[in-house]
Amino acid sequence: MARTQVAIIGAGPSGLLLSQLLHLNGIDNVVLERQSREYVAGRIRAGVLEQCTVDLLIEARVGERLLRERLVHDGFSLGFDGRSLRVDLKGLTGDSVSVYGQTEVTKDLMEARAAAHGKLIYDCSQVAVEGFGGDHPQVRYSHDGKTQEMTCDFIAGCDGYHGVCRQSLDAGALRTFERVYPFGWLGILAEVPPAMHELVYSNHARGFALCSMRSMTRSRYYVQCDLDEKLEEWPDARFWDELRSRLPLAVAEAVVTGPSIEKSIAPLRSFVVEPLKFGRMFLVGDAAHIVPPTGAKGLNLAAADVRVLNRALAEHYRTGRRDLIDRYSEQCLRRIWKAERFSWWFTSIMHKFSDDEFDQRIQLAELDYLGGSQAALTSLAENYVGLPFE
Ligand code: APR
Ligand code: PHB
Repeated sequence: MARTQVAIIGAGPSGLLLSQLLHLNGIDNVVLERQSREYVAGRIRAGVLEQCTVDLLIEARVGERLLRERLVHDGFSLGFDGRSLRVDLKGLTGDSVSVYGQTEVTKDLMEARAAAHGKLIYDCSQVAVEGFGGDHPQVRYSHDGKTQEMTCDFIAGCDGYHGVCRQSLDAGALRTFERVYPFGWLGILAEVPPAMHELVYSNHARGFALCSMRSMTRSRYYVQCDLDEKLEEWPDARFWDELRSRLPLAVAEAVVTGPSIEKSIAPLRSFVVEPLKFGRMFLVGDAAHIVPPTGAKGLNLAAADVRVLNRALAEHYRTGRRDLIDRYSEQCLRRIWKAERFSWWFTSIMHKFSDDEFDQRIQLAELDYLGGSQAALTSLAENYVGLPFE
């Protein structure tokens, strides 16, 4: 039977980054992915990296194109009540963030794994994880019409929110915490220069809007939408009109429109499981937690889990120590919950939840307060650039 040290389920950013870091530490691993390589490489997700994430990607030796092509942002703006409030990240925290699409992070990791002849198996079906409660975990999967089996020391569940690893656990083994929001984000990607050179998050009586970008010639925009809306109801012209109606005037006037090259609707959710370790299986990234995209913490949190797990496994294989492995859950969850809190809070002050004008006045008061309080703005900024690891 085939054998590896760490079986990694899922080749999203979590699985690929873990695979690459373990490889650099001399730890043998195999990645099993349900989708095709092309499908994984084409997925469009958020695009703001904390410096911690950039540092980890450099450590993983996939920082070269990132450092060349990223846009370093020293701040962003909050639009509300016809105003625009700049959050000076650099001035308030000393840190900046990097704008670089997750799609590009994924491609860089895929190339690095291929260059190192990493064992990545795409198009796997019926992946099953077993025996992780004991000393001999096993993974079964089907590939090219054949059933395969593999033994390993550890299983890393990097298989996202809909993955099989979490679903393989007994209901009594874990607790889940969840908040579903009554709206989604309708996003488009267009080959047009961004309206502003920094991101703009806008609170508006018609609903939230966000101006983001992938490069100086490619823009990513979002508007809050109802969950039952269909993409067919959103031709480009309607999207651009709605976007502009929700932005501060100067930003709206600077929006350059053009045909969309991608359009999608995503629901918003906060979700955490506890614990993250089950015997010899770990949950990593979206398999363990989801944040609403306001604040762009999803990929950064996933990278933070990978950082902790890689260090724990490296230490274990080098010295036989188990204590870092045993602390994986606790160490990750403290930071996860803080990012959950921030993403929930930022979502709650920026979106339209109801027609209740009391709620709207409270939101505007909070945004106005941010504008007048260095302390409040610093709190927002330090969460946005990413909290330190303890
Ligand atoms: N077997 C094998 N692979 C699976 C299975 C399965 N049963 N179920 C899911 N997968 C794969 C998915 O096809 C996907 O490629 O696991 C991968 C999980 O990737 P992501 O969903 O991207 O999760 P993660 O790598 O943790 O990424 C975290 O990326 O997805 C964003 O919002 C997320 O920004 C966050 C970051
Ligand atoms: C994006 O560029 O897709 C993006 C940026 C910031 C967010 C969410 C998404 O908060």
